[in-house]
Order: sequence, then C-alpha cells, then structure tokens
Amino acid sequence: MTNNTRENFSSKLGAVLAAAGSAVGLGNIWRFPIETGQNGGAAFIIIYIACVFLLGIPIMMSEFFIGRHTHTNTAGAYRKLAPNTQWKWVGRLGVLSGFVILSYYSVVAGWTAEYTRLAICNAFDGKNATDFPSIFNTFVSNPWKSVSWMFAFMIVTHIIVIRGVKGGIEKFSKIMMPALFVILIVLAVCSVMLPGASKGLEFMLKPDFSKITASAWLSAMGQAFFSLSLGLGCLCTYGSYFRSDTNIGKTALNVAIIDTFVAIMSGFIIFPAVFNAGYAISSNDIGPSLLFITMPNVFQQAFGSLPLLSYAVSVLFYFLLVVAALTSTISMHEVVTAYVSEEFAMSRRKAAAIVTITCSAVGLLCALSFGPFSEFKLLGMTIFDFFDYVSSNLMLPIGGMFISLFAGWYLDKRLLRDEITNHGTLRVPYLRMVIFILRYLAPIAIAIILLNQLGLFHRG
Ligand code: TRP
Repeated sequence: MTNNTRENFSSKLGAVLAAAGSAVGLGNIWRFPIETGQNGGAAFIIIYIACVFLLGIPIMMSEFFIGRHTHTNTAGAYRKLAPNTQWKWVGRLGVLSGFVILSYYSVVAGWTAEYTRLAICNAFDGKNATDFPSIFNTFVSNPWKSVSWMFAFMIVTHIIVIRGVKGGIEKFSKIMMPALFVILIVLAVCSVMLPGASKGLEFMLKPDFSKITASAWLSAMGQAFFSLSLGLGCLCTYGSYFRSDTNIGKTALNVAIIDTFVAIMSGFIIFPAVFNAGYAISSNDIGPSLLFITMPNVFQQAFGSLPLLSYAVSVLFYFLLVVAALTSTISMHEVVTAYVSEEFAMSRRKAAAIVTITCSAVGLLCALSFGPFSEFKLLGMTIFDFFDYVSSNLMLPIGGMFISLFAGWYLDKRLLRDEITNHGTLRVPYLRMVIFILRYLAPIAIAIILLNQLGLFHRG
C-alpha cells in the first residue's frame, strides 16, 4: 500500500479519543486497583502518577512522532528511520508483543462479556460471598464457554478494525469513550455515597510512605507502561494516522490525563465499595479475582436492600469493562494488522483475517489453560500466566527502553525537535526536559525495572 491510500484520523479530538481508548482498558479498571491495593494505597498512587508524567509522556511522544513522521506500521517505521540497521527489530518485537497480549487479553475480555450477560440476566441476585468463587471457577474452567466468549470478542474487534481507521476505530472511540466516562462517574458517585466509604477514600487519599518498598516503585513503573499502552508500538501505529498539525505533546498529555483519571475513578468505585462490604485490603480479595469474585458480591451487599440499584450498578460496571477492553483490543489488533497488511502488501481485510484467526488460535490455548490444559506449565506457569508475565514484564519494558534510546540517541535531534514543535510552529518549552528524560532517565529507570523483574536484585 502506498502512503496515498492511508487513512488519517479526521480530527484532533478523534486522535485523542482513539489513543485514550487504547490506553484505557482492563489495565485501569482491573490491574490498577489491584496494584494499588497490594502496594499500600495513596502513596503508591502518587508514585504511579509521577511515573506516568515523567516517564510515560516523553515515551508516548516518541511513539507518536516516530509513527507520524514515517506514516507506516511500527516495524516499517524503524526501517524507514534507520535503514539497514537492526533497529527494525524494535518494531518487530512490538508487533509480536501486540500479538501475544491480544491473545490473552481477549480471554479476560471474554470474561467481562460473560459477566455482563450474567448481570443482565440478574444471575447475581440473592447470591452470597460463598457462591461467587464457584460461579467464577466453573465458568473459566468450562472450555466451551470461555473459548466462545474469547472468540466472540475477537470477532467484534475484527469487525471494527476492518471498517478502517476513520469509520471503525475513530468512530467507535468517539461514541464509546464519552459513554465510558458517564458510566464511570455514575458508578463512582454511587460508591462514594455508601456507608463506610470514608475508609476506602482514606486508603486512596492519605499517603503512608512507610508502606512503599523498592518493589512498589517498580510495580508503579510497570503499571504506568501497561496502562498507557507503551512499549509495543500501539501508539506509534496510531501516531501514523495523525495529521501533520496534531500537537504531539498536547495529545500525549491529554491521553495521560484521561488514562489517569479513569484509573483513579476506578479506585473510587472499587475501594469504598470493597471497604463497605467489609473486605480486608491486601488479602486475596484484592487479587486477580477482584472483578469477578469480589465485586459481584460487593454489589449484592452494598446495594442489596435496593435490588434495582444493585442490578443497574452490576450491569453498568461490566458493560464499562467490555467497552474499555474493546477499545484496547482494537488498538492491539490494529498494530498487527497494519504490519501484516503493509509489510506483506495485502489488503487490510485479508491481513485482519489472518490476525484474527492466528490470535484466536493462541487465545484458545490461553483460555484452555484454566481448564483442560491447566497442568501444562511453561517455567512453572500456565500458558496464560506465562504470556502475561513475558509480555508485560519483559517485552514491554524492553520495547520502551529501546524506544527511548532510539528517540534520544539514534535519531537526529533536529528531527525530534521538528516533529515535536511541528516544524517550529509550536512553542514547546519543555523540549529539553523531554530530551533529557529520553536520553538518561527513562533508559536507566527501565533497565532497573528489568533487572529487578529478572530477579537480579531481590525476590518478592
Ligand atoms: N493499556 C491497555 C489497558 O490499560 C492495554 C493495552 C492496549 C496495552 N494496548 C497496549 C498495553 C499496548 C501495553 C501495550 O488495559
């Protein structure tokens, strides 16, 4: 495909909402409260926010301008900017990570769809704390159900992606992101008004720095990467659809603000409700089963005396998760589809079909690793856990580190300056700071996370 046939986002708002759609996902509503709960609450949130703004924004800006400058998929982008070098592997690693994350992410996304169905059918009514673990375990270990939902999610993602950048991704994000904000605010208001909510609020707002350990710093950085969709070229691919007058710094700032806002609001939904229901933070209740075992019970207990309210809150909550997950799965699908279509010169439709089929096959293995394949282990982890571990803990940080080295050291500083200032038409007073972060702070900080992940510092 030539550049002439490539689409762009039609407006600046569309570009921001599409990128924010990628960033806002299960990472915000599922992973963020878990990380916050396990790492001590408010103090963790402060460190997380520092990571988002200090490390996240400069790397996001790099992804955006690398994409916009080259107008091509992430692997092609590195080849264009650094021909005949090994930098193309950064792009290829990104495509591979996108593929892997999409495969297991769509399994959890499928769970959110099943829980939306259960909520709509009022299946949580009258159930108590002892019922929810078995509802969840029976569901995930049933191969047909979880595989069908994973597959359904992949098909919906596919349909949106083949409708193209403007008609599919941008249009969907423009409708769904505002809907998501409304649901989020309604749920947060309900939750904050619960009796006992103040304990939850205190947990989120009153920092206790004595709880911050070295590993909390590292978790905060890892969470910032995952939540902002950094490190695999997702935002580089979206950047390639930006128009030349898009203000890259401002877009990155807006995306980071929206993403952080959603994460904090999710905390305002989850913590007051969890404290109201009498759960103890930092126990198993706040682990990965939070959304599927703890939360349905919380809704029953918190709003149980008003059945209609508890019904509405459950349906809205799971629908919110489906929407958030979907805008993220389309962004990962797009990374791989743009790569296959442009690098192997085939139509978007054909490329998307190949991606959907192969990703579903891998997703199938991930889904079955909760049931029939649960005994099959890679390095002591199930297939699902292995993919999650390798992609978020290794591939994303490695990708992020190389992106910052590429932008900070390899690329000509003039190119970086021209892109960020739109050829001198924008005043960007923070440009020097961005360059400093890309050159020194980000690569060093990420190297530390990586060494830690590999267990070089300590375990635990
Ligand atoms: N950021 C998304 C979330 O919070 C997930 C996601 C989408 C992602 N694209 C990504 C994570 C690229 C890392 C890299 O759920």
